[in-house]
Amino acid sequence: MLRERTNKNIFSCIFFKRERTKVSYMVISDLPGSYRSEIDKEIRKLIPRNKNPWEVYGIIWDFLERGGKRFRPALCLLCAESVRGKREDALPAATCIELFHNFTLIHDDIEDDSKMRRGKPCLHIMHGLPLAINAGDGLFMMSWKAILESRLPVRKQLEVQERLHRTFTAVLEGQAVELRWLREKRWNITEENYLEMARGKTGALIAGSCEVGGLAGGASAAQAKMLYEFGMAVGLAFQVQDDILNLVGKEEEYKKEIGGDITEGKRTLMVLHTLKKAAPEEKQYIIKTLDSHTGRQEEIGKVVAIMEKYGSIAYAKRIAKKMVVDAKRGVMALPATQARERLLALADFLIERKV
Ligand code: IPE
Ligand code: IPE
Ligand code: MG
Ligand code: MG
Repeated sequence: MLRERTNKNIFSCIFFKRERTKVSYMVISDLPGSYRSEIDKEIRKLIPRNKNPWEVYGIIWDFLERGGKRFRPALCLLCAESVRGKREDALPAATCIELFHNFTLIHDDIEDDSKMRRGKPCLHIMHGLPLAINAGDGLFMMSWKAILESRLPVRKQLEVQERLHRTFTAVLEGQAVELRWLREKRWNITEENYLEMARGKTGALIAGSCEVGGLAGGASAAQAKMLYEFGMAVGLAFQVQDDILNLVGKEEEYKKEIGGDITEGKRTLMVLHTLKKAAPEEKQYIIKTLDSHTGRQEEIGKVVAIMEKYGSIAYAKRIAKKMVVDAKRGVMALPATQARERLLALADFLIERKV
């Protein structure tokens, strides 16, 4: 059984939010169980649990059973419903996206030299680098197996596959840009450069989740474009919130190492904002510390204190909030359905989350 724990956190958060705004509890309450269990059921059908070799299937299941929010497939199914389509028509694409996402996390942790994922040591630490790479490759294969399950008309199916391919390519391009900044120790990076990179590494997959969900549900070209833009804005805001939690979140909720982005030398919106405002000696300290890939809490704490001094975390939060407010306006053009309400609630959750 896949674990439901993280999922409960998410949706209780949505519930409290909507309760405050006097939106019916019933609208939100069935979101966790139904959407998550549908996706997990599909994953169980696609990926045998006890098949040999354990080095493929055992490791993949170790990762999948750690949890994960599953919000990309939830967005995909909701977008199908938001254009009055059937969510089962979007289920293969939603599953494909979740498996692709899990693949990228395994490889991303290797690329970033990260230590913790979903509350446990990263796969390359637990099982060694070669098997972790291979398990990631396995999930990539499974993601394409998932989309082969689609029973959409051939033309629609090809359109969905083409969008998925475009989306997945954008992710690896975004990843490459960030990795090159680190490799070349580049610091002449603007906030717009950061946003462009994040549109690739994170925004594209969330935008694609919304777009292909809409297409599978019968969206018009204009609706699919709007859903893509909604997903992109929400995805960017999600990444900014993730960067914030990396600095000031709680490890037991966030389930990744706090301060890891400083050790990794990430050029986040907060870092770039601080570098614009800080005194020369503070600027020099930040650059030297991030380039050194230090894991020392004292040094990490000092960098965070400088960011706080210049209001950079609050600045990033304001930007993320504005992105979500703007994104929600587009969605209001969709028919007034329960799915639309849920999309709006999920967008709020993604920037208010602690997990
Ligand atoms: C983590 O994504 C990668 C980022 C884009 C920041 P999630 O936070 O959705 O990861 P899981 O699936 O819930 O673990
Ligand atoms: C996540 O980027 C994007 C992908 C996995 C493709 P990050 O490296 O910023 O995310 P975390 O912090 O490791 O989850
Ligand atoms: Mg990473
Ligand atoms: Mg990364």
